[in-house]
Amino acid sequence: MRVLSGIQPSGSLHLGNYFGMMKKMIEYQEQEDLFCFIANYHAQTSLRDGKILARGTLEAAANFLALGMDPEKSTFWVQSDLPEVQELTWVLSNFTPMGLLERCHSYKDKITKGIAANHGLFAYPVLMTADILLFQSNTVPVGKDQKQHVEVARDIAIKFNNEYGEVFTLPEPEIDDDVATVPGLDGQKMSKSYGNTIDLFAEEKALRKQIMRIVTAPIDVEEPKDPDTCNVYKIFRLFMDKEQDQALRQRYQAGGLAFGHVKQELFETVRDFFAPYAERRKELLDNPEVVRQILAQGADKARYAATKTLRKVRKKTGLVY
Ligand code: ADP
Ligand code: TRP
Repeated sequence: MRVLSGIQPSGSLHLGNYFGMMKKMIEYQEQEDLFCFIANYHAQTSLRDGKILARGTLEAAANFLALGMDPEKSTFWVQSDLPEVQELTWVLSNFTPMGLLERCHSYKDKITKGIAANHGLFAYPVLMTADILLFQSNTVPVGKDQKQHVEVARDIAIKFNNEYGEVFTLPEPEIDDDVATVPGLDGQKMSKSYGNTIDLFAEEKALRKQIMRIVTAPIDVEEPKDPDTCNVYKIFRLFMDKEQDQALRQRYQAGGLAFGHVKQELFETVRDFFAPYAERRKELLDNPEVVRQILAQGADKARYAATKTLRKVRKKTGLVY
């Protein structure tokens, strides 16, 4: 089964990205045919500074590699190293009703927030569709917010296939209910754009500060507490196995639990969990040529798969004459 997903190289990495997407991708490489890329074209919808985008791309790649992405077991590349995806985007644009894009929540949300509507922002789901269809992906693991975009990809694939026969595999979104939405410091979805993140590779002091800012209910220490409505618990449980989870729930329910203490425990857990990865990440960032070489090999592997699809598309649609 081919599993594909991408991540934008914008900003630092947070627990929502890790538990919502990256962890699962890294686990997938053991059993499935995993395709994973850094979506730098997508990032251009919100990022203008070329230096920041270039640096962010390298960092995103180093993050994934440090966290366990293995280029031998997976196909791992940077989106713009395969400009072929833009050709498919164009072809697919002609199978994309305006209404389909107008209904996309992500676009509507951005416009409501006052972000200027431009064609890139509007057409973003078509580029994402091309990412997915170019590689004949079966499964696309994403956070809840991206589910609709995978459904758009499926709709467009169906329209194209109706016209030209079974060219594209129909993709399915995959959302892990357990971590569908990792809450942020304030209980809303953890997101860079809400400034409510806990960052994987933050310096110790900054990390502690973020965790201490998690919003909790004003309940006396002695009172029993409901773990299921507590932001600290909802984040902490992501790091726990069943037994640890049960033990923490009991401490909440028994009363006598101080949020400050649990936050300190959470801080130590996050810090210790990511420390070995941070070291590996630093090594990679100190040697960017190594990262670039890994990515170039990944792009070669991805191109091989992309070319097969594109050849069919060009032939069917009359671009080969
Ligand atoms: P952000 O919302 O911080 O801008 P991105 O949109 O770059 O994050 O998300 C990258 C990936 O991580 C996507 O697959 C997205 O669905 C997932 N993701 C982001 N935030 C969360 C979250 N809070 N919970 C679960 N998954 C998330
Ligand atoms: N749009 C996704 C995001 O912002 C990133 C992405 C781009 C993606 N292309 C993709 C995810 C294809 C899955 C499949 O998070």
